[in-house]
Amino acid sequence: MSEFIEPPQTAKTNCTAAQYRADYVRSLSDPDGFWLEQAKRLDWIDPPTIGGEWSFDPVEIKWFADGTLNLCHNAVDRHLADKADKTALIFEPDDPDGAVRTLTFADLHVEVIRMANALKAMGVTKGARVTLYMPMVVEGVVAMLACARLGAVHSVVFGGFSPEALAGRIIDCDSHFVITADEGLRGGKPIALNANVDAALDEHDTQVKGVLVIKHTGADITMKEGRDHWYADLASDEDCPCEPMNAEDPLFILYTSGSTGKPKGVLHTTGGYGVWTATTFHYVFDHQPDDVFWCSADIGWITGHSYVTYGPLLNGATQVIFEGVPNYPDHGRFWATIARHKVSIFYTAPTAIRALMREGDSFVTAHDRSSLRLLGSVGEPINPEAWRWYRDVPGEGRVPVIDTWWQTETGGVMLTTLPYAHAMKPGSAGLPFFGVQPQLVDNEGQVLDGAAEGNLCLTASWPGQARTVYGDHDRFVQTYFSTYTGKYFTGDGCQRDEHGYYRITGRVDDVINVSGHRMGTAEVESALVLHPHVSEAAVVGFPHDIKGQGIYCYVTLNAGDEGSDDLAAELRQWVRKEIGPVATPDRIHFTDGLPKTRSGKIMRRILRKIAENDYGSLGDTSTLADPSLVDRLIEGRVKS
Ligand code: WT7
Repeated sequence: MSEFIEPPQTAKTNCTAAQYRADYVRSLSDPDGFWLEQAKRLDWIDPPTIGGEWSFDPVEIKWFADGTLNLCHNAVDRHLADKADKTALIFEPDDPDGAVRTLTFADLHVEVIRMANALKAMGVTKGARVTLYMPMVVEGVVAMLACARLGAVHSVVFGGFSPEALAGRIIDCDSHFVITADEGLRGGKPIALNANVDAALDEHDTQVKGVLVIKHTGADITMKEGRDHWYADLASDEDCPCEPMNAEDPLFILYTSGSTGKPKGVLHTTGGYGVWTATTFHYVFDHQPDDVFWCSADIGWITGHSYVTYGPLLNGATQVIFEGVPNYPDHGRFWATIARHKVSIFYTAPTAIRALMREGDSFVTAHDRSSLRLLGSVGEPINPEAWRWYRDVPGEGRVPVIDTWWQTETGGVMLTTLPYAHAMKPGSAGLPFFGVQPQLVDNEGQVLDGAAEGNLCLTASWPGQARTVYGDHDRFVQTYFSTYTGKYFTGDGCQRDEHGYYRITGRVDDVINVSGHRMGTAEVESALVLHPHVSEAAVVGFPHDIKGQGIYCYVTLNAGDEGSDDLAAELRQWVRKEIGPVATPDRIHFTDGLPKTRSGKIMRRILRKIAENDYGSLGDTSTLADPSLVDRLIEGRVKS
């Protein structure tokens, strides 16, 4: 057990080792009883009497279907009775000399009502889709909660996505409303959010009739008469009750990348997602009433939905909302912010940890971290070296570190150690959360027992599970339930050790994870082939020291066109503009052909190996239409 690190002792925890064992067993033997009990964490208008009603073949998933509730009431209004004066949000602006803004639950209640009234004034009603394209400011969280209050379905699009990507996501869910800001700010640089919304709406045929604009930087922007409204002009304080929602009414859509096609609108519903985020937040972060929690994720990703907006507020937690980036004004920003607001629980991504680790310890040790009692990691595999640095330097070797594995589709944490119950194993996420039933299968679908490595599936539903892909249930079934009939397939490879600890090895499909952001290689390929000089493109991931994975693009050009550094730079810019900065290719490899089988299928396995600089294991190349191409590709490998 030498790789294992025992958790620190504490007098007060939400879960001991013995409790975990007993509750995990119960969550599998009596899931309905267990989850109906956890559901009591929320205030229900009609408490549910039914637990899970689900099948993975055919695919239909419901939880708490006879329950009625409103999640905005649960995140805000119900805390007024005993926590009205407790701090809910501490806003830390991009500029460290800017104004810190603190909102109590009573203040948050006022803000949410103002926002909900503004949305109503634009015509937002129950069931309407509302697209958010926002900076990481208080109003982003408020806008999500205001949608939930009215029963509208929010679809948050990360502010780093391009107008093209934004338009696609507006059109796909037929959204008629957008909430944005004049500009965002990241690392001292303005992000032209409102101008991007204008570009998306001017260049595409959408049904958008109202755009609500929050004044943030005060930049001079153009407002389109009749369509664009300043938030301050529509906000009002009149009474605005919470809409009663059935547990299975949609709460939000969040677009995420898969192996094929356009991003999918993953749909989460109200009751199950609320119970899942409330319960996981309570146990996984061992939340106590006096904690100051900080999750550094943007609300544009699922982590920001579950562990900025919903999980913490459903638990009445105090949390930091951070607008900026880890390296501005210097590489000590995280630790300075932790010292400033006495953060006790900090949750961030391995890519940030690795980037900061490289800058040396002095940026960390310059700041007081004595308030910290728990550190968390999420979004991609964390290498043991980065894990140890995170615990030893920022965590002073004294705090537990949790490595939480989950996905947009799972709604909340699925695999982790619990901070004071379980030994930690650097590089391993750890054990299944209550109700989670992992299974490893080989490529033929054979179930693997004991210590093994295989493809990670989940064999039973859990309340936080996504219910469908918006407007395309067949795609939901096809993507997650058709590889292994009757099981949810995660797309991840995974090892299980003899202690039952799970270690995620990475995606086994054509999805890559760049700085914790999920990217479909097919999306980058589609963007590349739109360029007038590009004939064909194949995109794969390769190991990257900081980002986890980088984007490697093999490109063939049209007859007569010639590859050059200038064209490579142009293609990088092109993809950036089509999708957004997150998708910027790291390497462009011009080639005269792609390795294809005689039937024309691109052999991505070979392209992956070459990009990874792993030629020893290229496997069988004899089925290639042109086997000599492989040597040319190896020779032409782009190294930086
Ligand atoms: C994919 C899901 C979890 C919310 C943020 C990302 C990878 C996530 C871990 C982890 C290893 C991880 C997986 C997963 N991933 N957490 N702790 N260790 N890999 O959500 O964008 O839906 O991406 O992120 O590959 O499938 P997402």
